[in-house]
Amino acid sequence: MELTTRLVSVILFLLVIRVGCSASPHHWRKKRVGEPCKKLVFYFHDIIYNGHNGKNATSAIVGTPAWGNRTILAGHNHFGDVVVFDDPITLDNNLHSPPVGRAQGFYIYDKKDIFTAWLGFSFVFNSTQLRGTINFAGADPLMNKTRDISVIGGTGDFFMTRGVATLSTDAFEGEVYFRLRADINLFECW
Ligand SMILES: *[C@@H]1O[C@H](CO)[C@@H](O)[C@H](O)[C@H]1NC(C)=O
Ligand SMILES: *[C@@H]1O[C@H](CO)[C@@H](O)[C@H](O)[C@H]1NC(C)=O
Ligand SMILES: *[C@@H]1O[C@H](CO)[C@@H](O)[C@H](O)[C@H]1NC(C)=O
Ligand SMILES: *[C@@H]1O[C@H](CO)[C@@H](O)[C@H](O)[C@H]1NC(C)=O
Repeated sequence: MELTTRLVSVILFLLVIRVGCSASPHHWRKKRVGEPCKKLVFYFHDIIYNGHNGKNATSAIVGTPAWGNRTILAGHNHFGDVVVFDDPITLDNNLHSPPVGRAQGFYIYDKKDIFTAWLGFSFVFNSTQLRGTINFAGADPLMNKTRDISVIGGTGDFFMTRGVATLSTDAFEGEVYFRLRADINLFECW
């Protein structure tokens, strides 16, 4: 007797959970986000190792599918290539401007039929003006003029921050150099 009552209540509980889940997509709660508490613009510069530029390269292919190699980005929109980078960050779009920090992390080309990537990296600052990190993660559909990726946290001057960074490709030279502009809007500042 006791067992059936328990079973019935478990089933009812599961039903309630199901209804709760299926109701959400169309009623996604839209909370208003205020103005950003901080706006920042930076550029970072990626020089991909190509077999000849070992001295200047700031990034390297560290993983590739069976049909590729680690010297040249693979075919099929570079699908499967994993690139690690340690790029200089500058305040303007000049590669030779004094760097204010480093963009460090990786990107993964993650779709065969279009050119797109997934980014996970940090801006690392260690100067008298800026100290700390801003951490980024998200999909980077490279063919979009602008792409929004998440600012998922920070340390130091950016303690516990969150926000959105709008990336745009500011320059692109074959498969050796590109420059990204990051317009960072932080919505949580401490
Ligand atoms: C490395 O960078 C310097 C300065 O920009 C440039 O003059 C040189 O040609 C570059 N070397 C290679 C191998 O790309
Ligand atoms: C890497 O692949 C490219 C293009 O497929 C090829 O031209 C190059 O010779 C390969 N390099 C090595 C070191 O295998
Ligand atoms: C940051 O800069 C300070 C002072 O220049 C230096 O002592 C420290 O080692 C640096 N830290 C890192 C992680 O580079
Ligand atoms: C890419 O561009 C499309 C169309 O302009 C837009 O709807 C979409 O949100 C963009 N994606 C990202 C991740 O920014």
